[in-house]
Amino acid sequence: MIETREFGRTGVQVPVIGQGTWNVGDDPSSEAREVKALRVGLDLGLTHIDTAEMYGDGRSEQVVGRAIAGRRDEVFLVTKVLPSNASHQGTVRACEQSLRRLGTDRLDLYLLHWPGGQHPLAETMGAFEALVAAGKIRFIGVSNFTLDELRVAQQCLSTERIACNQVLYHMASRGVETEVLAFCRREGMAVVAYSPFAQGAFPPRDGRRREVLETIAEAHGKTMSQVALRFLTREDGLFAIPKAVRVEHVRENAGGAGWALSPSALATIHQAFPVPPPGTPLDTA
Ligand SMILES: NC(=O)c1ccc[n+]([C@@H]2O[C@H](COP(=O)([O-])OP(=O)(O)OC[C@H]3O[C@@H](n4cnc5c(N)ncnc54)[C@H](OP(=O)(O)O)[C@@H]3O)[C@@H](O)[C@H]2O)c1
Repeated sequence: MIETREFGRTGVQVPVIGQGTWNVGDDPSSEAREVKALRVGLDLGLTHIDTAEMYGDGRSEQVVGRAIAGRRDEVFLVTKVLPSNASHQGTVRACEQSLRRLGTDRLDLYLLHWPGGQHPLAETMGAFEALVAAGKIRFIGVSNFTLDELRVAQQCLSTERIACNQVLYHMASRGVETEVLAFCRREGMAVVAYSPFAQGAFPPRDGRRREVLETIAEAHGKTMSQVALRFLTREDGLFAIPKAVRVEHVRENAGGAGWALSPSALATIHQAFPVPPPGTPLDTA
């Protein structure tokens, strides 16, 4: 079974590789394939499933609901509220609608999709705590938050903690490592890497970076995609949620954990895919 680790300080073990679902549900003729891919992923232990009310205007959540029907207890289920809906009432209402589309009575993790919406953060966090108290969600998280925004979000909570920050993180976009990663490590917040394959622009077609990846993959008996996933989840507190509709991709992604990159491979990666200078703004999709 796939490698798991504690998700922040929740006490819950979560697979280090999960499944994203952006664009899932966009084309009704692809639905059977999407459901199948998600179920194959569940069979392989990729039980951290990420969706959002925004994706396909709720259609991604509906497809996820079909994929997890009868298997809800296996899943660490995550969805997100849109900042434009994130008033107190709006958050509670959005959560109810997501639960209905997902065909469940509870979420494992509910995220504010990005910061800076028109509703005060304190209202959203208050609604999240009310949803925890009501048993509708287990944990609270955020997405696309900078270090300062994470601090404010945590201060808005009175009884709960921020369990995670879901951020853009792939080999060619390591901005999260300038300061957010160290803060999350200290505070016991999980960091979930979204778009780990740069939305399909991975592996690089040619050039020095491709050569580096090919050499490391060969030395470890893995593929370049597996090297990328292992790099992004190389230490405690890190998780990745690739999206894959092709079953062969799902299987490959499940092999992105449970082994270690050698110290020399890590050093080569750091050189070929450097962290940007401090002060670089956090990238978003
Ligand atoms: N919080 C946020 O603001 C935010 C933003 C963006 C994304 N996300 C979440 O993160 C998830 C993942 O990000 P993403 O969908 O943007 O892109 P991604 O996971 O970086 O890339 C998806 C693309 O990579 C391909 N792929 C999957 N496995 C592969 C493999 N082993 N080798 C080569 N290519 C592979 C997929 O192909 P096939 O589908 O054809 O298999 C698809 O074209 C999203 O689905 C969503 O759940 C969150």
